[in-house]
Amino acid sequence: MSSETETLPYSVLADIYDQVMSDVDYETWADYLDEIILTHHPNALSLLELACGTGNIALTLEELDQYNIKATDLSESMIRVAKTKGVQISSAVDFQVMDFLEPDIHESFDVIYMTFDSLNYLHKEQEILRLHDNAKRLLNRDGIFIYDFTTPRNSRKAIQFLNYENRTLENGIRFSRNSTYDAKLRVHSNEFLIEKESTFNRTEIYREVHLQKIYTLGQITEMIRKTEFTILDAYNSFTLEPATDLSLRVTMVLQ
Ligand SMILES: C[S@@+](CC[C@H](N)C(=O)[O-])C[C@H]1O[C@@H](n2cnc3c(N)ncnc32)[C@H](O)[C@@H]1O
Repeated sequence: MSSETETLPYSVLADIYDQVMSDVDYETWADYLDEIILTHHPNALSLLELACGTGNIALTLEELDQYNIKATDLSESMIRVAKTKGVQISSAVDFQVMDFLEPDIHESFDVIYMTFDSLNYLHKEQEILRLHDNAKRLLNRDGIFIYDFTTPRNSRKAIQFLNYENRTLENGIRFSRNSTYDAKLRVHSNEFLIEKESTFNRTEIYREVHLQKIYTLGQITEMIRKTEFTILDAYNSFTLEPATDLSLRVTMVLQ
């Protein structure tokens, strides 16, 4: 017997997120962020991560022994997983549940960063402007705001290999991901079906749908013009080369 339950994004996925993302090289990603910080704000000490997920970037950056890090995410489940991992390695990263559209912290930071398409979870320009306003308020003088986003070209390419994935993970949980891209609306959808055995031989199927709005470099640049930030750099993928209209992922560095 099985039943299907619709759940909030990242609520059930949280427990298998690290396995699903096992091909993501978080160490290289954290090194890349460190390189950007050293380039633009070499004296930075305090970091705030937005949308930190299960804490992979924060926990890797902490290994450099250079930064005090607070890492936040909207999802209680993702933060629960991050905290568990932190405790296992006696980490000092301060993990906290927080909506980056309604931040409830009263400190300021040298660097605010956000990785892995988290900006693409915002579907309205007003939300993107609000995120920038919030970051501005939480930054110290000369502080920098770093985030990446993926582009329409990336979505078109990604669905060629992500469009259907079906695996059984190490802990016996089965999951599938069905990815589609509406090029007209520029909305990328990832549907996750996560199958778990529960009591009395029942199988629970949890369904999470993640909808991401996909932006061009021009659109994001235009929105930033409406904020109090200046663009220091817009980088192509994981390089320090300038982003172009052909970039699959763009990393923005704002001050
Ligand atoms: C693709 S995951 C990236 C997680 C992490 N940055 C990583 O690299 O693994 C997107 C994350 O954005 C978070 N998120 C989405 N909307 C948010 C919001 N309004 N405030 C805070 N976090 C949010 C989700 O909970 C999720 O953990």
